[in-house]
Amino acid sequence: MLDQRTPFRVVDPNVHLDVVVPQLASAPVLNRRLRGIAKTFVHSFRHTLRAEAGRPGRYHAMTIGWQLLGHSGQATGIQLWVAQQHGLTVTIERVTVWYDTPTETVLALPDVIAPRAWPAVVSAIADALTPTYRPNRVRAALGADGATRGKGPTFGFAADGDLVVTFAAGVLSGGSEPVSVRLAKSPLASRLSAAGRSARAATQAHRAPAKPARADCAKRRCVALTFDDGPGSFTAELVALLQQHEVPATFFVVGDRVRQSPDLLATVSAAGMEIGNHSSFHDELTFLAARDLKRDLEATSDAIAAATGHRPTLLRPPYGSRNATVDRVSEHLGLSEILWDIDTLDWRYADSRRVQNVAVGSAGRGSIVLLHDVHRTSVGGVPGIIRGLQRRGFTLVTVSELLGDRTVPGRVYRQQATAHQR
Ligand code: NI
Repeated sequence: MLDQRTPFRVVDPNVHLDVVVPQLASAPVLNRRLRGIAKTFVHSFRHTLRAEAGRPGRYHAMTIGWQLLGHSGQATGIQLWVAQQHGLTVTIERVTVWYDTPTETVLALPDVIAPRAWPAVVSAIADALTPTYRPNRVRAALGADGATRGKGPTFGFAADGDLVVTFAAGVLSGGSEPVSVRLAKSPLASRLSAAGRSARAATQAHRAPAKPARADCAKRRCVALTFDDGPGSFTAELVALLQQHEVPATFFVVGDRVRQSPDLLATVSAAGMEIGNHSSFHDELTFLAARDLKRDLEATSDAIAAATGHRPTLLRPPYGSRNATVDRVSEHLGLSEILWDIDTLDWRYADSRRVQNVAVGSAGRGSIVLLHDVHRTSVGGVPGIIRGLQRRGFTLVTVSELLGDRTVPGRVYRQQATAHQR
């Protein structure tokens, strides 16, 4: 388990700046690197704000969040993602940092490859990118320093063990998208260094987390926590919290956000969380014509399936707003409508303690509790909510578990055993 200390945070609501990066109890070198990256981004964000001071009315925001790529006694991989908005332009950058515990070093790509195999790996990557990108440019980038704000690539391991090497946008060409290359597991196996093998093993150890056992809610007193509107900046932190407490939850995600952070959603799902559909753009669904509604919900289910490998069976209509058309289209798409009986109003009161009191105090057997993981204060209240509900004798489960895995498409559910026929 990750031995986290208080994370490093920079929060300035006046300029829509919100940064959180993890700090581990036993890895000062890694901590320093993570803080350094965060500070570099904050510095350049503030610089942009000063440069733009003469242009009032433009909206600026920056959020930095993180997710765990892998963790073992030998290696830890952390991905930071940096979302910025300047005017109407939104960008997301990802930076991966791999740390080798025995040598207390942050690893660059050449460190994970055995020295004798490095030339072959460079050629393989250059070949894979030819003719779209110039080989000498690829080679120069591969030799460049630092997988942070330097030109060097970031890297990680896919679920099947392939090495994924990613060049930031603009490094290989003028394009605005990052460029990734996958190196197949089999030739790679003999080319990894000891540190590379540790990093890969750490990824695989992390990808197969111990999932909480499924509970029988016909016999036990169950409550389902649900988190809407993500995936967002605090989702990874929330999932880490839930995993630490060995508690599952259900995430109703917005398709547009899933398309921006498919990797993040994959992590949420891999951690044993249930994923439901919360529409593509968080529109009020009753305002959409049936055809547009169908397209909207299908696009989100497609994005979820692409990211997680599972097609959702649950829909939460934004604002709980539904009508006969929403019911009919949901039925057609195989989606049950999941409302709630406990509304924490966490979006209105940015107050962890209040959220905690409402969730713990109001929940009863079979309750579905509405929360939002896009609010820091909601995520902050989660440890207290878990403790409070468990103290009251409740078992925390996903919505599907709560409803006995027998939800009917097109039907509306607000809690356990209260299926309302339309
Ligand atoms: Ni919502």
